[in-house]
Amino acid sequence: MLYSEIVMEHFRNPRNVGEIENADGVGEVGNAKCGDIMKMYLKVEEGRIVDVKFKTFGCASAIASSSMATEMILGKTVEDAWDLTNQAVAQALDGLPPVKMHCSVLAEEAIHKAINDYRVRQGLEPWEEKGHGSHDHDGHDHHRCGL
Ligand code: FES
Repeated sequence: MLYSEIVMEHFRNPRNVGEIENADGVGEVGNAKCGDIMKMYLKVEEGRIVDVKFKTFGCASAIASSSMATEMILGKTVEDAWDLTNQAVAQALDGLPPVKMHCSVLAEEAIHKAINDYRVRQGLEPWEEKGHGSHDHDGHDHHRCGL
């Protein structure tokens, strides 16, 4: 499988790995097909993401995607972070092999879940997931395992 230089670089040196104690929002998602899981931690101050960490039990693409995604949402408002799509993450990685696009969905979903966890803790309504485009429909079921 051919990975871009950027994917390999983020896979070897993933940014923002770890967890945040007393995080303001935590999201954990799993892909039922491959069994990979990802957990995302957010620290939010005045509506802005001031710290983000992730942990994943996932493949190289999942690691590179979450590393890139955390870089892309750090310092952003919660609204802007919510709008980050897995396609944008894959683009920033200089592309992912088509069969690996679903791995980047895991990062997007983990961020969404962490943001909604943050919103619910604030007494706000959770935002509705938009669902994903046709790009990631490769037979994988993006079902959340509810871990
Ligand atoms: S194969 Fe499961 S996240 Fe990549």
